[in-house]
Amino acid sequence: MTLTGAATIAGVMGWPVSHSLSPRLHGFWLEQNKIDGAYVPFAVSPDRLADAVRALPALGLAGANLTIPHKETAMALMDKVDETARRIGAINCITVNPGGVLAGRNTDGFGFMESVREGAPGWNASAGPVVVIGAGGAARAVCVSLQEAGAPEIRLVNRTAQRAADLAAEFGAPLTAVPWLDRDAALEGAALLVNTTSLGMAGQPALELSLEALPSQAVVTDIVYAPLETDLLRIARDRGHSVVNGLGMLLHQARPAFKSWFGEDPAVTPALRAHVLEAVP
Ligand code: ATR
Repeated sequence: MTLTGAATIAGVMGWPVSHSLSPRLHGFWLEQNKIDGAYVPFAVSPDRLADAVRALPALGLAGANLTIPHKETAMALMDKVDETARRIGAINCITVNPGGVLAGRNTDGFGFMESVREGAPGWNASAGPVVVIGAGGAARAVCVSLQEAGAPEIRLVNRTAQRAADLAAEFGAPLTAVPWLDRDAALEGAALLVNTTSLGMAGQPALELSLEALPSQAVVTDIVYAPLETDLLRIARDRGHSVVNGLGMLLHQARPAFKSWFGEDPAVTPALRAHVLEAVP
């Protein structure tokens, strides 16, 4: 890669950032589209986040992604934040607009919806109730996107009941909180099941859930992508469900960011998946 003096630069801020797959992902698209640009990892400690964000316009950068632990705190540093990100309560993408105006948004929910639409084309948000496992940051993005897409019912199941109740109260209809102990029965009549917790991830405990009550046409998706096929997805696939793994959400959330910085609408292709997967442990 050779940059000219006119190159467009963006990156990702995280702490740590070394685990981030985003440089690999955006780097692939930059090369494929022969763009005079670069996407670099920025290791930014929480106490330096404000300095780092303010440096974006000062350095003439196009923008940046945010990853753990900056997604919530960066929101207050923006000049404007779109409605979806405001509801989610976190941003994952900053675009430096003309005049150095910092615009924040959250593309995680978009990535989730696009991934499910790609992986399970027969599903749509009005197909029936959705069961969401977890009530953390990822669940917020998933729930907002499902709510915006018109899901008729969202059953929120979380180990800590209060957290699910708080989220259901904050987001309102069609969210309802379901006790953790009732999670098997909550699958009855559902059209989509989403695991937003880290359960099932390599090194984490398994998600203990019986799919007995889940209708056979229901789609099962996991936001975990390491391993690519979690026990939940393997069991669901064996039962004949359409399954969608967590890699698509990661890939699709990056598309609007790439477009806003580098001007091209990039494609999620098998070659991109293979390239990113090479770096997944
Ligand atoms: P993220 O931003 O990735 O969603 P988070 O905000 O830490 O991360 O949320 C993690 C989610 O996984 C929570 O819903 C958490 O449940 P609690 O609210 O009860 O903590 C869930 N989770 C993590 N470990 C879990 C476990 N061992 N059993 C059940 N749920 C678990």
